[in-house]
Amino acid sequence: MPDVAMPDTPQSCDVVVLLSGTGGNLQAMIDSFQDSSSPARIRAVISNRADAYGLERARNAGIETRALDHTAYEGREAFDAALIELIDTFAPKLVVLAGFMRILTPGFVRHYHGRLLNIHPSLLPAYKGLHTHQRVLEAGDATHGCSVHFVTEELDGGPLVVQAVISVELHDTPATLAQRVHAQEHLIYPLAIRWFAEGRLALSEHGASLNGQPLGPGGHLIQAT
Ligand code: GAR
Repeated sequence: MPDVAMPDTPQSCDVVVLLSGTGGNLQAMIDSFQDSSSPARIRAVISNRADAYGLERARNAGIETRALDHTAYEGREAFDAALIELIDTFAPKLVVLAGFMRILTPGFVRHYHGRLLNIHPSLLPAYKGLHTHQRVLEAGDATHGCSVHFVTEELDGGPLVVQAVISVELHDTPATLAQRVHAQEHLIYPLAIRWFAEGRLALSEHGASLNGQPLGPGGHLIQAT
């Protein structure tokens, strides 16, 4: 048998996306992973709201969707248990939160330890929670941005993977800031997912690492121009 060199085809990495809203980040992933060189494959999109526009974006892209109404469950534990059961029918290697506006139970977070990512519209650890653009303006900050991080039991906490920094201009409003932050989210989230899918991004007891090197407390920093 001749010694034939096999093409370098990385194993695909099935991803389940959880969202509650418009799905701008989901669309950025769909567009980015169309490139066949990416091993990331969106296996399913799940929402706690049946009317989330993100589900329509997924259907338009031929991706399986499910809605799981949290109001039909008695408490967070019961909902999260049902959510785990649903997610695991797709056997994903990675679960990503893309505007999934639910506080997750410790049991859920532990179940997906090291394979659960979130994106948040601030330079974490600053401005956890809601209304981040308004709060940045009220504080008179010179910079703002967004963060991708591994999820731990702390709300909007967990080891940082990548942050994009933008400068705050005098004329900025919450709406203009949101627009520029979203544009950065749509770059850094597909990037982080691709790193994970390629086996370059991992979480250990020492924190997040990229290409085997510790990422440090702020993660990989991108200065938006
Ligand atoms: C994004 O800005 C994301 O950072 C934020 O929800 C938005 C979802 O937008 N997530 C959080 O605030 C999580 N704490 P999208 O539906 O257009 O992707």
